[in-house]
Amino acid sequence: MMRLACCTVLLFLLRLLVGLPWFQVLPSILIFYLGSGGWKFLLIFAKTISRDLHAAGVLLKVKSNVNRHLKERNTLPKIFAETVRRHGDKTALIFEGTGEKWSFRQLDEYSNRVANLLLQRGFVEGDVVALFMENRSQYVGLWLGMAKIGVEAALINFNLRLEALVHCVTISNAKAVVFGSELTEAVCEVHSSMGKTVQMLCSGDWDPKRVPAGTECLEPLLDAAPTHLPIRPDRCFTDRLFYIYTSGTTGMPKAAIVVHSRYYRMAALVYYGFGMTSDDVLYDCLPLYHSAGNIVGVGQCLIHGMTVVIKKKFSASRFWDDCAKYNCTIVQYIGEICRYLLNQPVKDIEGKHKVRMALGNGLRQSIWEEFTSRFNVLQIAEFYGATECNCSLGNFDNMTGACGFNSQILPFIYPIRLVKVDEETMELIRGPDGVCIPCGPGEPGQLVGRINQKDPLRRFDGYVNEGANSKKTANSVFKKGDTAYLSGDVLVMDQYGYMYFKDRTGDTFRWKGENVSTTEVEGTLSRLLDMKDVVVYGVEVPGAEGKAGMAAVADPERSTDLEKFGKDLEKALPPYARPVFLRFLKEVNKTGTYKFQKTDMRRDGFDPSMVSDKLYFLDPTRGRYVELHQELYSSIISGKQKL
Ligand SMILES: *[C@@H]1O[C@H](CO)[C@@H](O)[C@H](O)[C@H]1NC(C)=O
Ligand SMILES: *[C@@H]1O[C@H](CO)[C@@H](O)[C@H](O)[C@H]1NC(C)=O
Ligand SMILES: *[C@@H]1O[C@H](CO)[C@@H](O)[C@H](O)[C@H]1NC(C)=O
Ligand SMILES: *[C@@H]1O[C@H](CO)[C@@H](O)[C@H](O)[C@H]1NC(C)=O
Ligand SMILES: *[C@@H]1O[C@H](CO)[C@@H](O)[C@H](O)[C@H]1NC(C)=O
Ligand SMILES: *[C@@H]1O[C@H](CO)[C@@H](O)[C@H](O)[C@H]1NC(C)=O
Repeated sequence: MMRLACCTVLLFLLRLLVGLPWFQVLPSILIFYLGSGGWKFLLIFAKTISRDLHAAGVLLKVKSNVNRHLKERNTLPKIFAETVRRHGDKTALIFEGTGEKWSFRQLDEYSNRVANLLLQRGFVEGDVVALFMENRSQYVGLWLGMAKIGVEAALINFNLRLEALVHCVTISNAKAVVFGSELTEAVCEVHSSMGKTVQMLCSGDWDPKRVPAGTECLEPLLDAAPTHLPIRPDRCFTDRLFYIYTSGTTGMPKAAIVVHSRYYRMAALVYYGFGMTSDDVLYDCLPLYHSAGNIVGVGQCLIHGMTVVIKKKFSASRFWDDCAKYNCTIVQYIGEICRYLLNQPVKDIEGKHKVRMALGNGLRQSIWEEFTSRFNVLQIAEFYGATECNCSLGNFDNMTGACGFNSQILPFIYPIRLVKVDEETMELIRGPDGVCIPCGPGEPGQLVGRINQKDPLRRFDGYVNEGANSKKTANSVFKKGDTAYLSGDVLVMDQYGYMYFKDRTGDTFRWKGENVSTTEVEGTLSRLLDMKDVVVYGVEVPGAEGKAGMAAVADPERSTDLEKFGKDLEKALPPYARPVFLRFLKEVNKTGTYKFQKTDMRRDGFDPSMVSDKLYFLDPTRGRYVELHQELYSSIISGKQKL
């Protein structure tokens, strides 16, 4: 009786909320109900129904907004114009560093100047301009101004140099490069390899002797440009807005296309999903050439009228001071940032801020609770979603450790799924009918999302170079003949549908017949070692099956007590997961988004004659780490020394 009542209520709510016809909803619920049986259904239902309805409401809201914008042929600049009308003199952006503040009106005027300047210069709809800047006061205004006349910005990672830089500018087909004066040297190095017709504009401290010949200074040109609204080209919501480069683990960066609707969707899902308001103040210290900083962060300003504090570079020691100074209520994080914050000595200010939410991805489960309790942050808004992927997830209800969920009661509302893969090659495992096999609770699998080009929420806009597209999609994933986006990430789902990060592609290795997750071991070691940077990877040992674990530890002061560490390790990790080798170095190389770079270190291996850093070996007979010298190395290689 009770179950029947639940179903009826649910059906009613669903019809109300989603407008799905009963014949679509009923079978699915019935199947689930029969399949799960008895009290388990009630348990899951009770625990997840409000979460699922909230998510369904958010999806519905964003979807209807997207449809409205599509119908009205809106674009991001048009949405921004509406924000300016509503918020006018409110502060839109604060540039931490100079302390400069721009109101919405100022940002609007600045971007109008950019648009008018480019129009005068003969740029037309569909042209591309590369943006290569570190100092960021004008960054948002520049790409927004371009968007106003349909010129597409290629947002280039300011850490790139030489071939990679040339590659990114070239594949974008940029007609001009706008660069910050702080990057003059990098531009000079590659200027001759770029086409002669590429116009060069330099922003910032202008030194005509240092810049490449023919470069013009941007600021005087902008000052002379009119501030009126430029004539809008007839762009629509599905047109291209800008390009963001994804740093592939191998090879050169790929330019992912961001269309207006995708920008809107990413920012809006986060806004509604995590319950933000336009009165929030968001602290954005992430690079603006990536989607996290420029869409999820800055999008709240452009679309929802939130004040966004832009910080040029993340600083662990200044983080909470900045938050307190600007009354920030939401902070963004990525990758290892949270750990760097925990690594800082305790300060008064870290409890005296108004931050209520931390928004980002990559907060490790091992430090999740320590982070929330030490810094008194009420909600962790962890989400998952690459720039180019449509299978975003969000941990809307503050579930410890999860990066999102998929409804167990209403899985069809959002067509994503975990499917079985060979975790080493990431190859999809298919059933006898050729369709991928969905994972049950507790079974790790690759996250995939069904593609539906007709639905702007579901489309896949792909990469600039066509070849890159085919690797990211596969056919017959949900059912025969369909197409789905492959995230490349392995997740695990629990019985309530909460999803947890398992590992990045290729980041497990096998040792003693077991799979070792580098992420898990990194988390544990880092905790044992006072939050030091720890990178774990497998190295090949001749004659040994699988790969032996190696942990590279950033320890500039040599403060690690190996004796104690060895003992702690015995309690914390199973034998196969304990690193066989340790490498102590000054610093671990990181990408612009604070991800560790392992490739070089993996190649270095454990040969003391190749590596100048101190190496240690876990002596299995004595159960402790000993220094790895040439002699020991030789006996390991020859197989004399057992591992
Ligand atoms: C840009 O940043 C550099 C340091 O990265 C600084 O020396 C320079 O003064 C900044 N320029 C402007 C115009 O803010
Ligand atoms: C932060 O809030 C306090 C008190 O509400 C206010 O006095 C102060 O001016 C605010 N600071 C900023 C930068 O808005
Ligand atoms: C979120 O979870 C943390 C524990 O991880 C808890 O301290 C906090 O109160 C929760 N916040 C909300 C808004 O429920
Ligand atoms: C390790 O991973 C491989 C490949 O994904 C899988 O076949 C195997 O069953 C896993 N082994 C264990 C012990 O989990
Ligand atoms: C993912 O993108 C594809 C490509 O367009 C789309 O068909 C699919 O519906 C999207 N999936 C989700 C869950 O949005
Ligand atoms: C870090 O990067 C630098 C420059 O690319 C390189 O020379 C160095 O070997 C790298 N360090 C490690 C430990 O891989």
